[in-house]
Amino acid sequence: MDFHELLAPEELEKLLGQQALVSQASGILDAVLDYKGMMMEYACAIREIETKIENLDTEFGVRYSRNPISTIHTRLKSQVSIMEKMARKGLPMDRASIEEHINDIAGIRVICAYIDDIYRIADALIAQDDIVLLDRKDYIKEPKPSGYRSLHLIVSVPVFLAEEKKLMKAEIQIRTIAMDFWASLEHGIRYKKCGENTTSIVDGLKECAAVIAQTDEKMMQLRKQMEQTESMHDDMEELYEKLKRFEAPF
Ligand code: GTP
Ligand code: MG
Repeated sequence: MDFHELLAPEELEKLLGQQALVSQASGILDAVLDYKGMMMEYACAIREIETKIENLDTEFGVRYSRNPISTIHTRLKSQVSIMEKMARKGLPMDRASIEEHINDIAGIRVICAYIDDIYRIADALIAQDDIVLLDRKDYIKEPKPSGYRSLHLIVSVPVFLAEEKKLMKAEIQIRTIAMDFWASLEHGIRYKKCGENTTSIVDGLKECAAVIAQTDEKMMQLRKQMEQTESMHDDMEELYEKLKRFEAPF
């Protein structure tokens, strides 16, 4: 016997309506949980990479008495940005497609002191045997038409979950303090969209980028010069200074 026969037609209608609602709600809940699960995995990928980069900075500090990294910023791409990007590319909004086509859900920005630090950190990270380099764009050697400079890496990193190992993609942007200063201000100015003076603003920003690039280069040369003279005059006082650093916590 069908149990539905036990119910009056209006009761049956109400019940079926409730069931439909419940199944709709549970569908939404599944989608939300799936999305949260995906973002959790990208957050783990960020943590893995951030730790690797922090360790490289610590090791470098002990070896050379100087830290190449000024700051590390991380961010998870927002839901709205993910949806906008998928819509712009005309792609379906499901998890597999998002994971396949969006490389920058996990974003790590590394701000270095000098230009050569950028390449040192990038090379040391890529050399690690669990990191796979998927793409590399050197906007320092070939700046963007805007004047933007930065080294971009798309990598995959394993994330160890309770029941599986997942390879997660992340975008790492590495640049100097000066390049970051320019990119932050340029981003703010570009999004003002005032309309007037556009060409002169674009040209002005490019000009600033060129001045900044020259300054970065000059600062690096000065540091190298200093390092050379330093190694020629390693007297006792300087040696004690270096030894003191070993007492610093890692
Ligand atoms: P996206 O779809 O934006 O990720 O393009 P893409 O995959 O070609 O990446 P691209 O290497 O062009 O740039 C990715 C990121 O670099 C952007 O999301 C910005 O954070 C940064 N970027 C690129 N060009 C500029 C620029 O001209 N100015 C600033 N301030 N940032 C930039
Ligand atoms: Mg991007």
